[in-house]
Amino acid sequence: MPGHSHPTLRALSRTRRAIGVRMRSPLSQQSVRCKSGPYGYTQAKALVFSKNGEPSDVLKLHTYSISPSLSSKSVLLRSLAAPINPADINTIQGSYGSQPSFTSLIGTSSPSAIPGNEGVFEVLATGDPSSPIRKGDWVIPAVPQFGTWRTHAVAELGDILKIDKEGLNATQAATISVNPSTAYRILRAYGPTTGISTGLGVRPLEVGSGEWFIQNGANSGVGRAAIQLGKLWGLRSINVIRERSSGEATETLRRELVSLGADIVVTETQLLSREWRDQLAEITNKGREQIGLGLNCVGGKSATAIARSLSEGATLVSYGGMARQPVALPVGLLIFKDIRFVGFWLSRWNQQDVTGRRHMIDYIVSLIREGKFQDVPLDEVPWNWDTDTSTLIDQVQGGLQGFRKGKGIFVFGDT
Ligand SMILES: NC(=O)c1ccc[n+]([C@@H]2O[C@H](COP(=O)([O-])OP(=O)(O)OC[C@H]3O[C@@H](n4cnc5c(N)ncnc54)[C@H](OP(=O)(O)O)[C@@H]3O)[C@@H](O)[C@H]2O)c1
Repeated sequence: MPGHSHPTLRALSRTRRAIGVRMRSPLSQQSVRCKSGPYGYTQAKALVFSKNGEPSDVLKLHTYSISPSLSSKSVLLRSLAAPINPADINTIQGSYGSQPSFTSLIGTSSPSAIPGNEGVFEVLATGDPSSPIRKGDWVIPAVPQFGTWRTHAVAELGDILKIDKEGLNATQAATISVNPSTAYRILRAYGPTTGISTGLGVRPLEVGSGEWFIQNGANSGVGRAAIQLGKLWGLRSINVIRERSSGEATETLRRELVSLGADIVVTETQLLSREWRDQLAEITNKGREQIGLGLNCVGGKSATAIARSLSEGATLVSYGGMARQPVALPVGLLIFKDIRFVGFWLSRWNQQDVTGRRHMIDYIVSLIREGKFQDVPLDEVPWNWDTDTSTLIDQVQGGLQGFRKGKGIFVFGDT
């Protein structure tokens, strides 16, 4: 009937009003942009995908408006920085362990999701003046699949976590909650077996003991965090990196990791060579010093070689699969060396230990503030209102390539 909208459309429009999003007419999309329109609407942009696939095929930049009326439990946020993590790309591809739900809440033509698990936002306005979160505060997502690749967001108070921004810059604040947290949890929870009499549990490496762990992907965000936390906690690390294009470049990377606190840095070629066994014996005082923990973010031959390097009763924790190769394990490692193979997923830990997560983030923030924790090298991607869609999407597409000069991170400017 003319003049009467379909019930589904009416329901959708009610939902949009509830979350403060207004659909833009084709006419208004052509109009000159003003950050806050005549009725106080905030203009926003988000990268979105409506089906899984390669980022360059499925990502789109969507423009929408956010209503100034906020519920008492919500806040209006402006994005400051948001990294491009491998997990975000896997989410777009559809190979990640969880998927965001596709909705039409920001007025996309088909139900879509906003990628980006990690980032930091500045609070622009709050729905309740007595809210514990105030204008000007910095917040990070408290929930997975928050959707950080957008210029602005309206969030429920329960979905964000305030961080003490003093002494932090935006890129530091945007990168604390995934990689350093993963390294922290693995080093604090896993290690060698406690034996049959204790039900075959594991104990973490003992702080201050100088116990060894070994890891591949040592140049990754998690790897660099593990090196630094390990050093701070009095542990020793053997770190495996891939050769760079020249011996000199490999040596530069080796020195960089040593300056972060790595005890030993070897290349993947060394790890896979026949000589590795003898070299390892030399490092561990003829095997008298145990390697109770391995961290695997690569898979394939690298993971097998890491597993072979472990001492009896050690644990190999797999948290990533950058080489996209399965992990093949000699049965002898299970039977005769009693090695434990486990997987780790930070999202599960965050869900099950909310208070522990809060303490961990505060601890990491304090280390950064005290100058005890270095950022990963970053490849900053400025995101302004007029930044080309292709510039943003190309950066995402390149995010899984190896040998990058740094982790891609959107840094929001004039949005
Ligand atoms: N399970 C969890 O909860 C959890 C949490 C955080 C991260 N992760 C996973 O951990 C991994 C690392 O994440 P990140 O953010 O730390 O990574 P990142 O900083 O973006 O670094 C990527 C790393 O992967 C390496 N790499 C890329 N392609 C490779 C290949 N084909 N073979 C071997 N190494 C390769 C790179 O080595 P080069 O420097 O040599 O290029 C680099 O060290 C990812 O798989 C991610 O999904 C898992």
